[in-house]
Amino acid sequence: MWRKLSAYHTAANKLRTTRILKIRTESPTVKTLTFEDNQCAKARPGQFLMLWVPGVDEIPLSVLDAEENGLVSVAVKEVGEATTILHDKKVGEVVGVRGPFGNGFTLKGERVLMVSGGTGTAPILFLAKELAIRATRLISVVGAKTRGELLLVNNMRRTLDKKKMLVIATTEDGSCGVKGFATTPLQSFLANEKFDMIYTCGPELMMRKVFDLAEKFGIALEASLERLMRCAIGLCGSCVIGRYRVCRDGPVFTAEQLREVKAEFGISKRDFDGRKISIEYV
Ligand SMILES: Cc1cc2nc3c(=O)[nH]c(=O)nc-3n(C[C@H](O)[C@H](O)[C@H](O)COP(=O)(O)OP(=O)(O)OC[C@H]3O[C@@H](n4cnc5c(N)ncnc54)[C@H](O)[C@@H]3O)c2cc1C
Ligand code: FES
Repeated sequence: MWRKLSAYHTAANKLRTTRILKIRTESPTVKTLTFEDNQCAKARPGQFLMLWVPGVDEIPLSVLDAEENGLVSVAVKEVGEATTILHDKKVGEVVGVRGPFGNGFTLKGERVLMVSGGTGTAPILFLAKELAIRATRLISVVGAKTRGELLLVNNMRRTLDKKKMLVIATTEDGSCGVKGFATTPLQSFLANEKFDMIYTCGPELMMRKVFDLAEKFGIALEASLERLMRCAIGLCGSCVIGRYRVCRDGPVFTAEQLREVKAEFGISKRDFDGRKISIEYV
């Protein structure tokens, strides 16, 4: 009980209001919003924040970038009510912020493979900026259905030093890069090179495939999961997977933890009413 109350009374959980300072269109459905928030500017790669859209809803978003000058960026995909209203917002309009929440990725390994899809590339890009300083080999596979949905690939290319690092785009329709899923080139990378760490974020079916390959090749992995989130501090239970609350114990989970929740990971999640529903390919 005391742990629960102490999570409530933290500086991170206090709602702050701020103004949108910058908006950039990344793709037909994704915009990057930048605002100032000194608390979330302390975020580590893989942590998330709760963005309050006044009068509408509060939604979880991964931190895309957190700068020393207090600027924080998030990449928002338009999927429903809150994200559509966010997409219509103009520079200068007010939003609310809580966070940063969750554990974030641990910075491990010198030979690293990163696999991301959709807005899952946002926390992976943030991670890549930190890993680029220490890794000796870094491969980033970024997947999408089609060229127009490929996200942040050029930012990734600018971040990674070309000599020891590689960015591969994959599209399901073959309109850009390798034709297939983000997991398509993995088998041959894993068979031909040694890696000591895999990081992944994106659609859960993709992450499950990456996890299965990591298990097959015996490589350590961290995956960042999404579940419905309301409180973001471990109180409401809407984000459960197995014995874990994704907001508090994750969103980043190790392969050891994912083995415990194998019956749910990539298979089922809870809906807004707490019912178990299948995770489907969308
Ligand atoms: C840890 C975490 C990090 C995320 N990072 C990003 C990100 O960087 N960029 C991004 O575009 N999206 C991210 N999402 C997903 C984002 O939260 C949802 O797309 C958003 O909440 C949809 O809100 P809506 O009102 O527009 O859509 P709605 O019409 O309310 O819902 C559309 C779908 O969005 C999902 N969703 C809705 N509400 C929530 C909620 N409270 N928690 C989780 N999922 C929800 C559900 O799958 C739902 O079916 C993240 C989610 C989590 C849990
Ligand atoms: S969102 Fe409430 S417990 Fe995780």
